[in-house]
Amino acid sequence: MRIVVYSPADDGPPWCAALGAHFPGAQVWAWHAGASVRQADYAVVWAPPAELFAAAEPFRAVFTMGAGVDKLLRMPNLAALTRGAPIIRLNDAGMAMQMAEYVVHALVRHVRGFARYEQQQARGEWRKGPFISRQDWTVGVMGLGAIGAAVAKAVAAFGYPTLGWSRSPRMVPGVETSHGPAALDAFLRRVRVLVCVLPLTPETEGILNRQNLGKLLPGAYVINVARGQHVVDDDLIALLDEGQLSGAMLDVFHNEPLPAGHPFWSHPKISITPHISAVTVIEESAAQIADKIGRIEAGRPAGSIEGVVRPELGY
Ligand code: GLV
Repeated sequence: MRIVVYSPADDGPPWCAALGAHFPGAQVWAWHAGASVRQADYAVVWAPPAELFAAAEPFRAVFTMGAGVDKLLRMPNLAALTRGAPIIRLNDAGMAMQMAEYVVHALVRHVRGFARYEQQQARGEWRKGPFISRQDWTVGVMGLGAIGAAVAKAVAAFGYPTLGWSRSPRMVPGVETSHGPAALDAFLRRVRVLVCVLPLTPETEGILNRQNLGKLLPGAYVINVARGQHVVDDDLIALLDEGQLSGAMLDVFHNEPLPAGHPFWSHPKISITPHISAVTVIEESAAQIADKIGRIEAGRPAGSIEGVVRPELGY
């Protein structure tokens, strides 16, 4: 078996080692742009250049090193490049719990006023804030895939009333779910902390705009761990400045790194992290990909493997 690995992040060698450990005897190599292309059965990639697909035979499957496939699906002529090879993304692979942790942290920090206590400490001030009832803080999670469902479950486990909204129907224990565009308005109107874990698709791009964010309960808080393109930046800033929203914690941005001088950097109601809410864990991800390769090799149709991307849906 031959597996070609491409990542712009210079982590090809650890990926090769992790994948190779599952397939002794397989050829696993890291390709870099400009190198000649050898025939491979499988590709394991993040943001690959088109040349990677140039070998005579198409791959049997293309695996991505992340959960979001928006960039890959926007490659020009992708169908001509992949020539029918299924694209298979990571599902969870160690990311869901990291994201749940990030979201619970952002939620609890805001609701319990921990930022205020940090400021008080700096002033040497001992002052208790009012008791906060979780019942007043309904959390709404947009996107209930492997990651969104884990996030919603974690939030619900802390006793916050938790709503979930997704494109297609989903059941998550302890979470009141609804789906589809027709249910969005009713969902938003009940939410005080909005969490975005959606895939980026033509339908979800710009979904965190003035019209939708304006429907949240007054003083709502926004947490975005999905993609920067879900947010209309100017609308978010306007609603924060008008007091309709009380704050936002953002991990993802239209352009990354977030450019110097972007108003988010210095906005007093915005907390920023550098796309770290969930990082790909190489060992766990390689194990998942190896498991899926094993199934394809055993004759299972690639189209029925968990995480197979449906380009027509955009994820
Ligand atoms: C990272 O953003 C991913 O999609 O895995």
